[in-house]
Amino acid sequence: MEHFPVVQSIIRAALVGDRQALDKQIARLRERLEKSGQTKEVATLDRLLASVSDTHEMAPSRVEVSRAQIVGERITPDVNPPIDRETGARLCSIEFPANTNSQPVYGDSVQEAIEGLLQEWVSAEALKSVGVEPTRSLLIYGPPGSGKTVTAHYISRRLNLPLITARIDGLISSFLGTTARNIANLFDFANRYACILLLDEFDALAKLRDDPQEIGEIKRVVNTLLQNLDQRRNYGITIAITNHDRLLDPAVWRRFETHVHIGEPELRAREQLIARFLQPIKVEASTSRIFSYCLEGRSGADLERICASVKRTLALSGEAHDGPGVFHALSTVLARSPFHDHVAARILATDQEAFISLIANDPDFLIKQTDIGEATGYGQSRISDLKKAKRHLALMEAGHAQ
Ligand SMILES: Nc1ncnc2c1ncn2[C@@H]1O[C@H](COP(=O)(O)OP(=O)(O)O)[C@@H](O)[C@H]1O
Ligand SMILES: [Mg+2]
Repeated sequence: MEHFPVVQSIIRAALVGDRQALDKQIARLRERLEKSGQTKEVATLDRLLASVSDTHEMAPSRVEVSRAQIVGERITPDVNPPIDRETGARLCSIEFPANTNSQPVYGDSVQEAIEGLLQEWVSAEALKSVGVEPTRSLLIYGPPGSGKTVTAHYISRRLNLPLITARIDGLISSFLGTTARNIANLFDFANRYACILLLDEFDALAKLRDDPQEIGEIKRVVNTLLQNLDQRRNYGITIAITNHDRLLDPAVWRRFETHVHIGEPELRAREQLIARFLQPIKVEASTSRIFSYCLEGRSGADLERICASVKRTLALSGEAHDGPGVFHALSTVLARSPFHDHVAARILATDQEAFISLIANDPDFLIKQTDIGEATGYGQSRISDLKKAKRHLALMEAGHAQ
């Protein structure tokens, strides 16, 4: 059997449950098949991969949380959130789990961390038998727009618990002493009900610390927060979110049992997000791959914004809602922004044909010429000519000279 060594590696990776190695070996097999001209087998493999990523996209069912694990009254829609006594401003918002199916898109390690956490709640009894409890506190950190807040909502949905969201800057009062009282009131409220407490934009706390006039106040605030976080363990789940992990007080950091970093999406995650954000336009895999290649380094929120601009541009352009249509719209959208960190985006913003030459020549981007044709609308002989001419090189050099 011709490709047996690769098949053997695939089996080994599958047996030990190493997803990353498995993906790598499957990609290797695909490459070998492609090289030896076995297009039918390549297509079968692609279909298999696509169907798995479809099921990945399907929403998992709700986790049945044992009620005994979560104490507290049930929140009803007529429960009012606590307020700042000075200003009357609400200290938090209350959201009930939404009835949607959408699931955030993660790389493998984040996916494992989040699913592992949810699994702990399903298996709370099993954990108890060995004297441990499910994780009750989670700190999520990472760059803006990477899906941290949507993750908190997702956990709330999966555990079927309402989300009580406080922004730290909403709790900070200009009145001396009031901030600490606000924090205490917020925690009292959250501890009373069965819920998840979300402390979003936790970094605001660090901002306070930078203000030399606030030394006394910040000490009091941090102490109150630490005390309340410690007590909260006996009640329910707490999630804190920050964009700037380094700014957080190490004592605060230690209060959280699990830390999950959500960064910018990787190639595969970008493909999934792009396919989702381009909906209702349905694109082929070749289009989301090319978009993903071009939008390396962008956050999930960036991808959402760019895809919305692409749809707007496409709708007004009168072009067909297909691969080439969205490809042209993407190049228009990129051309409108003055600066791109990523060379592929810069080239597509300047010259579509140079971009085609770039992707056809990039040894790290395995894409078939027919897929380039499908996604861009260029004919095969034109793509071959562009590939040979290496039109992208001049632009890459110009980029370096800038
Ligand atoms: N990993 C992701 N999965 C799904 N959607 C995402 C992801 N990352 C970003 N988004 C999109 O970007 C928007 C902003 O995400 P959000 O969770 O608010 O980011 P932040 O990390 O700043 O809290 C969301 O509305 C969502 O549509
Ligand atoms: Mg957020």
